[in-house]
Amino acid sequence: MNLKISLRVRWVKPTLERIVQDVQDLPALPQIVEQVIRVTEDPDSTVKELNDIICQDQALTARILRLANSAYYGFPRRISTVVEAIVILGFNTIRNLVLAASVYDLLSREVPGYQLGKGELWRHSIACAMAARLLARQVRFPAPDQAFVAGLLHDIGKIVLSVYMQDAYLEIINTVKEKRIPFSQAEKDVLGFTHAEVGAKVAEKWNFPVPLVEAIAFHHEPTRARENARLTALVHIADAICMMMGIGLGGDGLCYPVFPEALSLLGLQQGIIEELIDRLSDLFVDKNSFLDATK
Ligand SMILES: [Fe+2]
Ligand SMILES: [Fe+2]
Repeated sequence: MNLKISLRVRWVKPTLERIVQDVQDLPALPQIVEQVIRVTEDPDSTVKELNDIICQDQALTARILRLANSAYYGFPRRISTVVEAIVILGFNTIRNLVLAASVYDLLSREVPGYQLGKGELWRHSIACAMAARLLARQVRFPAPDQAFVAGLLHDIGKIVLSVYMQDAYLEIINTVKEKRIPFSQAEKDVLGFTHAEVGAKVAEKWNFPVPLVEAIAFHHEPTRARENARLTALVHIADAICMMMGIGLGGDGLCYPVFPEALSLLGLQQGIIEELIDRLSDLFVDKNSFLDATK
């Protein structure tokens, strides 16, 4: 009698309640982020007010200065105080820096389910944020800073789904190959959720505005965006650019199509992708700065 037992164990899908609980268990954004958002949105705020809020947190201050002096901002002179950073970089950039510094710990974790080593999701996220902002400026999108934030957080759902993904990964990859579907669709078939959907739940937990939630939810299916389709298209293309540049590819990076509708919605031609890769390669010249920026 053949006693061979099939090793193909069927993956048990996580329930919606379980995913919601996992999202709730993620840390809240530090209060300082809310204060900084409030102050930077008020045109009557002063440099001193913003400086006083940021300087309450010494670790955050050190990270912000490291980020400000990193290759991302390419500023030629060393910035050594928060006041200097505010005056030179402006309120909007400082708000982005505070947010980036606050999510650094979360995003720099190892994400084994998606085959991302320590620091790789951070590199991918900050590169996507920079690419989205650059692209936003190029197409005269009215809120390039919103594009930065959406780019920074687009893959945050991977942190939550990683734990389930570890067992499901092979089945998902096989589904991608057999059915010739994008990775996110296979994620949905096998796990019941995509990292984009789960990321949107994280953005809701952090009370982000609807266009940001939508851009995270649909970054792999930009034609589904309704609230601010241009923002979603920006993140979609920025993400594709980072994958083409090989920044934080992980296990799924090459399994997504680029939607031509996203390019046409922004009035862009295909050639823009190569042009942006060239410009970003100069910006990301020191690859180690992705990791070192906020240590
Ligand atoms: Fe993604
Ligand atoms: Fe991504």
